[in-house]
Amino acid sequence: MFISKFSRLGAQAVKGLSKSLLTVPSNKSFLPIIQNHYLEPSSCKFFSTTATDNSQGGENEENQKISVTFVDKDGEQEVKVPIGMSMLEAAHENDIELEGACEGSLACSTCHVIVMDVDHYNKLEDPTDEENDMLDLAFGLTETSRLGCQVIAKPELDGLRLALPAATRNFAVDGFKPKPH
Ligand code: FES
Repeated sequence: MFISKFSRLGAQAVKGLSKSLLTVPSNKSFLPIIQNHYLEPSSCKFFSTTATDNSQGGENEENQKISVTFVDKDGEQEVKVPIGMSMLEAAHENDIELEGACEGSLACSTCHVIVMDVDHYNKLEDPTDEENDMLDLAFGLTETSRLGCQVIAKPELDGLRLALPAATRNFAVDGFKPKPH
């Protein structure tokens, strides 16, 4: 008895609901989809199974990389560096000898690089105190020295040229001629 009352109430609720769903309000414009079913135009979503035009994609991808030249004792090597990548990572990806002993955790100065163009140097974020502390320990420190792991590629740095002071140290060692006593 109790259950059948509930069933009746449920049936009435379903009936009322389906009636309201199938009624087309006169003040709106509706699109028929299936017989007696309508969808508001604002809720229409159009999907396409055709491939999107990727002709711009390659171009955009190219725009996401900047050109960086590493200069060492053997000459120079230009590489494409994705935006957001550090110069240390870029060097390692391209087999350029930039050590990076602490892997970018600001606990060494072996990733020391010298920014060869002052304009580019001025576009870099200011070094943190931690970076400055490490730079103080770097071999061959210059006015435009930075730690390679802290220089992050961004569009304004396109054309960046970085000298590797480690090569300079090698020059000094290679060129050293001990004087006879
Ligand atoms: Fe050690 Fe950059 S890799 S500070």
